[in-house]
Amino acid sequence: MTERQIVSPQAEPEEVALDRTLRPQRLDDLIGQDRVRENLRILIEAAKQRQEPLEHTMFYGPPGLGKTTLAHIIANEMGAPIRVTAGPSIERAGDLAAILSNLHENEVLFIDEIHRLGKVVEEILYPAMEDFALDLVIGQGPGARTVRLSLPHFTVVGATTRLALLSAPLRTRFGATYRLDFYEQAALEYIVDRAARALNVPLEPEGRAEIARRGRGTPRVALRLLRRVRDYAQVRGDGVINSTIAGEALALLEVDHCGLDDLDRRVLHAIIEKFGGGPVGLETIAASIGEAADTIMDVVEPYLLQLGFLDRTPRGRMATQLAYTHLNIPYPRTEQGTLF
Ligand SMILES: Nc1ncnc2c1ncn2[C@@H]1O[C@H](COP(=O)(O)OP(=O)(O)OP(=O)(O)O)[C@@H](O)[C@H]1O
Ligand SMILES: [Mg+2]
Repeated sequence: MTERQIVSPQAEPEEVALDRTLRPQRLDDLIGQDRVRENLRILIEAAKQRQEPLEHTMFYGPPGLGKTTLAHIIANEMGAPIRVTAGPSIERAGDLAAILSNLHENEVLFIDEIHRLGKVVEEILYPAMEDFALDLVIGQGPGARTVRLSLPHFTVVGATTRLALLSAPLRTRFGATYRLDFYEQAALEYIVDRAARALNVPLEPEGRAEIARRGRGTPRVALRLLRRVRDYAQVRGDGVINSTIAGEALALLEVDHCGLDDLDRRVLHAIIEKFGGGPVGLETIAASIGEAADTIMDVVEPYLLQLGFLDRTPRGRMATQLAYTHLNIPYPRTEQGTLF
């Protein structure tokens, strides 16, 4: 595994299996995201009282914060089946028509990466979400006609890392839209602790705090660090994760005490050393270090913004004084933010 993958919020295959045992199943099991949880509780309770399907719901935010988890929780709480799909895998209008016409009343249709739905596919989705109707074109040429099939009342749960890429008509068809934020240290510690129990890993409070602190505010990352530190504890120690073992293991993985990895640091170094601290566009940064702009936009930038290491300005991104301090580089600006 490369360094990047260690703190990459993208899921790895082994994690998918582990998820089945660790993933919270009900709202009450969900740690953190208090605002989203309480809003959802009301939304779900109200729909159940009215005996109606849930309104279409959208979750957005950086990878690994729980969008997929929440979609499954919604289905569990509604006592409804869930059908899982993703934007890129619905290629043609017919693919979506087939999915829609096989849905059951109340069913949750989870569309991951919904910003990657094609235009033609989206247009099938509009009447389906709004009127629970599927417009089919029968025949060809001048004799063609449209028939409208009615669909069961279902609920779309959409997930995206890029709300801005969603078309306005699609966005307005969601009755509720929730932004997921990075987790607080305490919530991450709780999540790491629960996972350690499930995995039978002895974890001391200081070790737990260390893992949570470097977990990038992201459950998926914190859980992955826990597994790597567990390996280290087993091979180099007596299996117990204490503060020393956690510190050594994470240093070996090159995850620093803020949770930054090699790519994060390369981005900051590029802004500071190649572009005089910015402002500079993300595409330019990406090209200068040979990385995909998408990765930097989805994964690197949100966390650097959260730490206050990066400022977003109309002319591009700027490294803040905190970033200079973190990298031990003297800050060249005066308090007014001008050179000299
Ligand atoms: N609140 C939580 N409590 C405990 N574990 C959580 C929580 N949220 C997420 N997780 C765990 O973190 C991992 C990532 O969650 P999930 O797959 O739902 O993220 P996601 O937002 O869908 O990510 P992606 O954008 O990559 O699809 C899973 O292993 C899940 O079990
Ligand atoms: Mg997901």
